[in-house]
Amino acid sequence: MSNDSTLKTVFVALAVCLVCSIFVSIAAVMLKPQQVINKRLDKQQNILKVAGLFEEGRDIKELFEKVEAKIVNLETGEFVEDMDPASYDMRKAAGDPEMSSKIPADEDIASIRRRPDNVTVYFVTEGDKAGMMILPVNGYGLWSTLYGFIALEPDGQTVYGISFYEHAETPGLGGEVDNPKWKSLWQGKKVFDENGEPALEVVKGTVDAATPNAEHKVDGLAGATLTSRGVSNLVHYWMGEQGYAAFLTKQRSRPSSY
Ligand SMILES: Cc1cc2nc3c(=O)[nH]c(=O)nc-3n(C[C@H](O)[C@H](O)[C@H](O)COP(=O)(O)O)c2cc1C
Repeated sequence: MSNDSTLKTVFVALAVCLVCSIFVSIAAVMLKPQQVINKRLDKQQNILKVAGLFEEGRDIKELFEKVEAKIVNLETGEFVEDMDPASYDMRKAAGDPEMSSKIPADEDIASIRRRPDNVTVYFVTEGDKAGMMILPVNGYGLWSTLYGFIALEPDGQTVYGISFYEHAETPGLGGEVDNPKWKSLWQGKKVFDENGEPALEVVKGTVDAATPNAEHKVDGLAGATLTSRGVSNLVHYWMGEQGYAAFLTKQRSRPSSY
């Protein structure tokens, strides 16, 4: 067949596409296990960071031995012993009607529509931070759902840290949720007021120590009031009745063991 023939051109183009697609498919299949491992390591790194346990250059798997994952039923606040935290995916569960509950619109302050019935909670098991809890949270900002963790001291009231590992807020505006300086403002803040209601919020502007209830307030992100409001909303949702309230109440009655 002549090199100028249309049929040959189409045939060669199709053959090249076929060969390339085979290579891409093989690469995708072969790299899948590595992607799963990397995703797990990234999550573990985020958990270590929010708990202040991350050390640059150290093996993440080794550092994560100080952390124990447990599954908690949000309605009862009890641990679910017959589920394996290593294989449970609460984000997947949130999309499964059998494993999650629809949130009534008027209660969906974090704009997440569904809430998994069970969540994976992480406990620090070693050293001076033993008993610290790392609680997964998510909620809508301005452009995206923010996924992250809040680390609470063993009293279930004092914040140790907050961190978001996935969001699509604007860099320099809502994306400042990742700014270490802003995140450091959360340390020592108190989640609940004297009536046990979630009171922690991101305010517009800055908070000085003389501000009434300063222990429940965090500086707003400049030019990003909507993301800031989203963060306040997700904190209120997850620390409230639909979130960790039952678990934290139970947890306070067993302060020395988890
Ligand atoms: C391109 C663009 C991106 C923006 N991204 C964000 C954002 O990620 N988060 C946010 O809260 N506001 C963002 N804003 C600003 C909001 O539209 C809104 O003006 C702002 O939240 C109001 O905050 P302020 O009262 O602190 O100015 C963005 C605005 C523009 C034009």
